[in-house]
Amino acid sequence: MAAMPFIAGNWKMNGTLSSAKALAADLAARARASTLKLPRIALCPPAPLLAEVTTAIAGSPITLGAQDCHAKEKGAHTGDVSAWLLANMGCKFVIVGHSERRADHGETDSVVKAKAEAALAAGLTPIICVGETEAERNAGKAADVVRAQVAGSLPGQATAANVVIAYEPVWAIGTGRTPTPDDVKAMHAVVRQTYAQGRADSADLAILYGGSVKGSNAATLLAVQGVDGALVGGASLDAVDFWKIIEAAPKR
Ligand code: 13P
Repeated sequence: MAAMPFIAGNWKMNGTLSSAKALAADLAARARASTLKLPRIALCPPAPLLAEVTTAIAGSPITLGAQDCHAKEKGAHTGDVSAWLLANMGCKFVIVGHSERRADHGETDSVVKAKAEAALAAGLTPIICVGETEAERNAGKAADVVRAQVAGSLPGQATAANVVIAYEPVWAIGTGRTPTPDDVKAMHAVVRQTYAQGRADSADLAILYGGSVKGSNAATLLAVQGVDGALVGGASLDAVDFWKIIEAAPKR
């Protein structure tokens, strides 16, 4: 049984109180009014905007997510946010191991794994991000890199019911470039096969594609075998375009 389709918006370091409220309220109104079979939908705003967004999406099928968490429950970690506080704020999901955090903050697979474990312990579903750089792809190492990232970042207790994996080739993020459908299919198969080591529920795992997903290419990317949804950056800041992506999600 394939995973329920899932479209998540990663707002990254964008938005203000007023723009977050307007965007989330616009999407919530579309979701409430929709007669479509909607995918799971999550919005992942910057942490200071979580409260504003949770108010705006109340009573709609849209759920709340965060962009990162610390591995510890609490303590002397200035500037960090714990998975437990995120859960307390109403989050259901938290992105961990995004390539921007791996690059900007030197996060290794073991750090990402510890964060994913904290998310699980706090009752959140981690969206664990993996993906190769352009140099790694050009060197023919994309599959090896992603295999190692999945193996190193996935908690031992991960199941298809409690984690989501996002395949985001770094060179496709914010560039307008996307892999071919065949490459997406091949890399999602690599992710699924790696997850499957020692696990029997790999067919149920949600694997999202991320990297320059827009309303105009969503139907093509979301129709690829093994793609269960999308993790959307730039296009998730525009209600009209993000809604097009939601409408392009597989209906199953
Ligand atoms: P873009 O959709 O802006 O390429 O970003 C993708 C991404 O990094 C989502 O996490």
